[in-house]
Amino acid sequence: MSPDAFLAELDAQNASALDRIAIAAAREPAADLTVARLLFLALKNELEATECAAGWIATTRAVDVKLALARQAGDEAKHFRLIEKRLAELGVDTSTYDPGPRSPLLQYLGGLESTVERVAAGQFTREALAVVRNDEFIRFCVARGDETTAALYRDVIQPDEQHHHELGRTLLAKFAISDGDREAARRASAGTLDLAEELQEVARLKLGISRAPGC
Ligand SMILES: [Fe+2]
Ligand SMILES: [Fe+2]
Repeated sequence: MSPDAFLAELDAQNASALDRIAIAAAREPAADLTVARLLFLALKNELEATECAAGWIATTRAVDVKLALARQAGDEAKHFRLIEKRLAELGVDTSTYDPGPRSPLLQYLGGLESTVERVAAGQFTREALAVVRNDEFIRFCVARGDETTAALYRDVIQPDEQHHHELGRTLLAKFAISDGDREAARRASAGTLDLAEELQEVARLKLGISRAPGC
């Protein structure tokens, strides 16, 4: 199978879970749900995306992947700061922000050891998830009349997340060549989305929220 055919198959495998997540995220939100509340939840996603990418740099041998992870870590750290700044404008103080324990998703990703699994899960899939969620969040911001936050996501954050996904695509085309590596990539990708769906459902039951932005 050519790299393009493999990636098309992986896209198709992911599409149904991504569609379900988008549909769940688009459900009518509680009337008292605010942009600031969702932005606050996004902080943890950005911090964990930073930590995950940075944590893999030293134990990844392929130079292309190392540098892609470094670029991603820097972007995610920048997103954290941009969101903090927007929260400050909305009157939310984040100076004592504590992300709390590592999420089950970060724990899962942290356990992936091969380069192909990391690229498939952490970049190709997680970043596709970020794009889907951020699209929903942008719609929510517009519906709430918050054009400034919508523009931050549309013009700055979303193009970066799209770029991370594309990096994952390029790297998978290059590194996921053997049948074994491709099977590992499929598994890591599916594992990431299973967990994302599960966590979205947990957040809905616990917090009444299915639409937090971010990875
Ligand atoms: Fe990000
Ligand atoms: Fe990202």
